[in-house]
Amino acid sequence: MKNTAFNITSIRNDFPILNLKVNGKQLVYLDNAATTQTPKVVIDSIVSYYSKLNANIHRGAHYLSQKATEAYEDARKKFQKHLNAQSSNEIIFTSGTTHSINLVANGFINLLNSGDEIIVSHLEHHSNIVPWQMLCKKTGAIMRVIPMNEKGELIFSEYEKLLSNKTKVVFVNHVSNALGTINPIKEIISKAHEFGAAVLIDGAQALPHFKIDVIDLDVDFYVGSAHKIYGPTGVGILYGKEKWLNKIPPYQGGGEMIDEVTFEKTTYAKLPNKFEAGTPNIAGVIASAVALDYINKIGLEKIEKREAELLDYATKKLLEIDEIKIYGDSSNKTSVISFNIGSIHPYDIGSIIDNEGIAVRTGHHCAQPIMDYFNISGTIRISMSFYNTIEEIDSLINSIMVAKKMLS
Ligand code: ALA
Repeated sequence: MKNTAFNITSIRNDFPILNLKVNGKQLVYLDNAATTQTPKVVIDSIVSYYSKLNANIHRGAHYLSQKATEAYEDARKKFQKHLNAQSSNEIIFTSGTTHSINLVANGFINLLNSGDEIIVSHLEHHSNIVPWQMLCKKTGAIMRVIPMNEKGELIFSEYEKLLSNKTKVVFVNHVSNALGTINPIKEIISKAHEFGAAVLIDGAQALPHFKIDVIDLDVDFYVGSAHKIYGPTGVGILYGKEKWLNKIPPYQGGGEMIDEVTFEKTTYAKLPNKFEAGTPNIAGVIASAVALDYINKIGLEKIEKREAELLDYATKKLLEIDEIKIYGDSSNKTSVISFNIGSIHPYDIGSIIDNEGIAVRTGHHCAQPIMDYFNISGTIRISMSFYNTIEEIDSLINSIMVAKKMLS
């Protein structure tokens, strides 16, 4: 594979951190599923906000407050357009995917009765399991689990068996953070709707890789994080169909989310303010929209293609290593590879290659049920972005070979 599919030199120059030396070695950043790096335009947007625009939004009559409000609401419109949502009222800004999921799970407290069922998948991140377990505890609802197979795919026929008129909510990730498997969410959503169940899709690991169309998916809730799409940390996105966002109560009370407050009672503001109590991460939201513009300028189709090429190359090279076991080999996956080598502890390899400047994630990746399925405590995970190169993958392979020799 050549590095000329698009102008990789110019793209890498957009990301100041990619020139960093770590432990005296050139940084090779292969932990993009944990967080993506930040292009200069996004960093500049944050500096510019605090240098020229900083004010609280929706409150002041003054110039800065109005300008900051405009920029914040423009960001909302950009996310609306990007996700093809019908209205900007359907886009809520939160602090991250975890916050978005908790907001929705909490909203179902009064909509579930004891004995109702909710369906999760075996492939979930803990953040799409624990909030729903808490909901089950509060409501007496029962959690059912869609099982997975050896390839790291969900077993659709088993999902169909779990659905019934008792099913009220289905919550599944679009892409597994630990294995990279892309789940057939359109089919999952349409099956759930046959039984009148709402569906939340955790899109944290999908938004960086491909285009999402919430109308085409007919999804009820779709959530993600800005820091995984080259934006800053501390900003989450929650898309919800207007009918659902009107139905569920606010998660947090405070300023900005009210219509009228007396000591006797409070009426809530309309969407989207109803769910945005307190001062939000204004600079972060505005910078997140800059990140969105950045990836759209490159083009998600191009990004998808380049990452698929990197995935093919890295998989082929890794499979040449003796005793390697890759977990999750679905033919439909993003640029994530989870693996172990013989009985070497993943952390040991991770620390040795860190000395060479190579950043990977090791451990259970907040997805312990997946690790339990494979009967392991963790894996080494590499997760590639369009800015990675074949030379970086070659460096990874060389460093793993050195580590393997040291540890065998
Ligand atoms: N969910 C992030 C990951 O998979 C943090 O690394």
